[in-house]
Amino acid sequence: MESMKAEIQKIFKERFGEGGTLYASAGRINLIGEHTDYNGGFVFPGAIDKVIMAEIKPNGMEKVRVFSIDIDEYAEFGLKEEDAPKQSWARYIFGICREIQKRGGEVKGFDAVFAGNVPLGAGLSSSAALESCFAFALNDLFNSNKIDKFELAKIGQSTEHNYCGVNCGIMDQFASVFGRKGNLMRLDCRSMEYEYFPFNPQDYKLVLVDSRVKHELKDSPYNRRRESCERVAKRLGVDTLRDATMEMLDAVKSDITAEDYFRAKFVIEEKQRVLDVCDALNAGDYETVGKKMYETHHGLSKDYEVSCEELDFLNDVAKTLGVTGSRIMGGGFGGCTINLVKNDLHDDFIKVVVDKFNEKYGHEPKIYDVVISDGARKIEE
Ligand code: GLA
Repeated sequence: MESMKAEIQKIFKERFGEGGTLYASAGRINLIGEHTDYNGGFVFPGAIDKVIMAEIKPNGMEKVRVFSIDIDEYAEFGLKEEDAPKQSWARYIFGICREIQKRGGEVKGFDAVFAGNVPLGAGLSSSAALESCFAFALNDLFNSNKIDKFELAKIGQSTEHNYCGVNCGIMDQFASVFGRKGNLMRLDCRSMEYEYFPFNPQDYKLVLVDSRVKHELKDSPYNRRRESCERVAKRLGVDTLRDATMEMLDAVKSDITAEDYFRAKFVIEEKQRVLDVCDALNAGDYETVGKKMYETHHGLSKDYEVSCEELDFLNDVAKTLGVTGSRIMGGGFGGCTINLVKNDLHDDFIKVVVDKFNEKYGHEPKIYDVVISDGARKIEE
C-alpha cells in the first residue's frame, strides 16, 4: 500500500504538479449468497485488503484528466453525456461523474492518477473498487459528503448498467463502500437492511484460489441469467424471486423452460443458504458453513451454469483434500474459488492445489489469503 501510494504521488506530481487528496476503495469477497442480489435476496460480502487508490484534485476546468498507472494510459473527457471516453477503464470514471450529476450532485473538472492491486477479472470486483473510490472522492471533493453511502453504491451500480453493459446487482458496490475491517456484512437486497458480522475464526482461514481464467462479465451470459430470473418472477406474479418458494416454482414447471426452472431453483435455494450460514456462524459451526459453500458450488455449476472446467477442478481438489468449504465466488465464468480451510491444512492445501492445477492446465493458479478490511475512504496523510 505504501509503495502504491508513493508511486501515485510521484506520477501525479510529474503530470499535474502540486498534489491532491488520496482516496481508496476495496475489492470484495462474498462468503455466500451468489446471484441473489438482483433477485432481492441476501448476500454476505466483506471488503478486502486489495484496493484501487487515486489521487485527485479539482483543476478548475470543465474536463477530467486521468492517468491509469496499471494500464499506462491517459484519458481526457468532458462532463456531458456526449463526452463519453472510448477506453473502457475511463468509462467507469465518466459514469460515476454522470450518475452523480444525474442525481443533482456536482462534479467539476479534476485531475487524477490511480493504481490498484485488486486482480482484474478474478471476481474480486476491481470495477466496484474503482467506482466506489471515485464516487467517494467526488462526494468529498464537490458535494461536502452530502450523498449518502447507499446512494454512492447505487451510483456505482448505475455506472455498470448505463456505461459498462453489466446489469449487475448491488452487492459489489455495497461491499466496497460499506466494508469494515474484520467484519462481513449480511445485506438484505430487498429492504437494504444490513448487519455487520465480526468474522475472525480462530481455527480457519479464507483462501482464494484464482484459476486465472479470464472473467469478463460484460460479454458473459451474466445479463441472460438475470433475464431468466426476471422471467420466472413475472410468471409467478412476484416482484423478485425473493418472494418465490420451491412449491410456487414447481407449480409452473411445465409452463417455463427447463433452463429458467433450474436458474430459479438455484436462487430460491441460495437465499436460504445465506440465512443458514449466518445461523451456523452464530453457533460457531464452521462445518455447516463449509457444507453450504459446497452446496452453492454445486448449484452454481449444475443449475445456474456459471462455472467452468477449471473452477470445478479446483472445487474437486478442495473436496478431496478435506477442505471445510469451497465454491466459485462472484459472478462466475472464471475467476476464483473461495475456500474455508482449517489452519492445519492450509499449507498442504495450497501446495497440492497449485501442483495439481499446474499439472492439468499448464499454469499455476494464484493464491490470495483474505484479510477483511475497510471499504471506501480518504487516506489521511
Ligand atoms: C457480480 C455482480 C454482483 C453479483 C455477483 C454474483 O459480482 O456484480 O452484483 O450479482 O456477480 O453474486
